[in-house]
This record gives sequence, C-alpha cells and structure tokens, in this order.
Amino acid sequence: MIPEKGLEMVRREADVEVWPDPLPPPHKALLQKVRGIDALLCLLTDKIDAPVMDAIGPQVKVISQMAVGFDNIDVAAATARGIPVGNTPGVLTDTTADFAWALLMAAARRVVESDKFTRAGKWKTWGPVDFLGPDVTGATLGIIGFGRIGQGMAKRAQGFDMRILYYSRNRYPEAEQKYGAQYADIDTLLSESDFVSLHTTLSPETHHFMNDARLKRMKSSGILINTARGPVVDPAALYRALASGTIAYAALDVTEPEPIKPDDPLLALENIILAPHIASASFQTRTRMATMAAENLIAGLKHERLPNCVNPEVYKK
Ligand code: DGY
Repeated sequence: MIPEKGLEMVRREADVEVWPDPLPPPHKALLQKVRGIDALLCLLTDKIDAPVMDAIGPQVKVISQMAVGFDNIDVAAATARGIPVGNTPGVLTDTTADFAWALLMAAARRVVESDKFTRAGKWKTWGPVDFLGPDVTGATLGIIGFGRIGQGMAKRAQGFDMRILYYSRNRYPEAEQKYGAQYADIDTLLSESDFVSLHTTLSPETHHFMNDARLKRMKSSGILINTARGPVVDPAALYRALASGTIAYAALDVTEPEPIKPDDPLLALENIILAPHIASASFQTRTRMATMAAENLIAGLKHERLPNCVNPEVYKK
C-alpha cells in the first residue's frame, strides 16, 4: 500500500490503478498490468526490468520509485529507452540512521534476547553476569559507505564518544572534520571496529561484500549491522561467522532473500536480530516518501524534469 497522501496527489492528475494486494504483483501479472500506462509508481519489491519497460510501451513518461535505493530497476535499460527514473533521497536519512542506531544498541545490549527471556518466565533473579554485552560509549564504529545515511551514523556515534572509522569509494573531508571520522582501508576498519555498520548501495562491486574473508577480519567480539541491502552480506558466510563465534552478533534490517525464508538457518541463531526492512518506517518519512514519489511521477507526466532523477542523462538526449 502506498501512503494515501501520495496517492491522492496522483489521483488529482491522472487515472490511477493500484495493485490491490499487499504482496507485490508476480512478474507475469506486472507485465500484463503495465501495458499502455503513461507512468509507473513502484516499490523496491517490484522488479522493473527491460521486459517490463517494453511491456509498458514507448509512451511511458516516467518510472517513479518510492524508495531511495533503486537496485530493483534496470536503470540502464530505462536510460536507453529515454525513461526518467525517480527516487526519494534525503527524506529518509535520519529515520534510517535512527533505526540502524537502534539495531546497534539493541544488539550490543541484547534487548531482543532479554525481552524473549522475560516473556518466557525465565527471569528468576538479578544475575550479575546475565546478558552482558559490550559498551557502546567509547567503542570504535566502522562505517562502510559514507553517504548521507553513513554520515548520519557518524553523527549519532559522536554523541557516544566513539572512535569513528569509515570506508567508502570517495573521501569526505568535510564530514571527516564535522564528525571526527577517519578514513580507513577496509582491512583496518574491519579489524579495529567493535561495530561495523553497512551503508553502501547494492551494486556488482558490493554484492556479498561481507564474505567469509571479510567477516574473519572482524573482531570475535564484533557486531555487524546491515540496513543497506541484504545481498551486501553473504548470508551463508554470516551464518558460519555467527555460529562459529568468528563474530559475536549481527543485526539486520535487510536480508537475502527478502522476505527471509522460514527455514533460513539464520533464524535458528540467538545472536542475531532480524527486522523486516523497516528502517525508514516512521509515519512522517513513509508519507514524505510517497509524496516525493508522487511529485516525481507528476513532473514526468507533465514532461517536466523530475525533482529527484537517478538518470539525468535522459535529459541530455
Ligand atoms: C530505501 O528507500 O531504499 C529503503 O530501503 C526503504 O526505505
């Protein structure tokens, strides 16, 4: 479901057909439904590939994604067809960083495990060595991917007097200054960080970036947080690392695949927190994402430049 405020905006400008099921349309249904439309508003659960674009037809004016990430869309295929693709950057930065921070805190201080323990009636006394976890204050945080959300983590970490390392394709001298963050090569970051938080986009270079070798470089007390995209972590390697004590804990908002399968071995582990891709799920942010997606869609329908376009090269043609 798309938040109503965004839909309302689109309804004022166009005839709208909304996929009625809470589950995403199967690809075959998508191919049929999109025929002849002028604009598509999609979610990150919809695979928008070249066959979908061809099924829509050459009259299509815009593809508007209600998310900042767009790895579900074949942007090169859209660009080749002259279709502008919109996304929703900026608005979810703080909300997502808040949730990544919540996962970091919850993993360190074993919030989910202790909640289950209490509900199960296992709380018999105050145990001096029960549910111990590492301090967050003063620890070292390694941030992989130092765009808006990665920097949002650094901002939060400053308040906890943390040493902040980051690894990224680009250097960010201003942010280094602002947050007291230090650029590190990946091996240094992994081996010196108490917490490693992932904030990269998903691309062929970052697919299974956290593999056996990189997980082994982390401290055995290390905690891995992923609010980026599931496939940035190799799930089989993560299982091996958590089950063998190569790392201590993980907290994931995103998995590979999504949703995680009910028989996924990760679900049987105690030292992992799994959330269903909700990092941007605040009332305000989801509404704003919907209205931004609507703004992109409406601009496209009017042959105007999208306020947030991921392939501006389409305007140079
Ligand atoms: C995004 O926008 O890419 C997030 O994963 C969902 O908010």
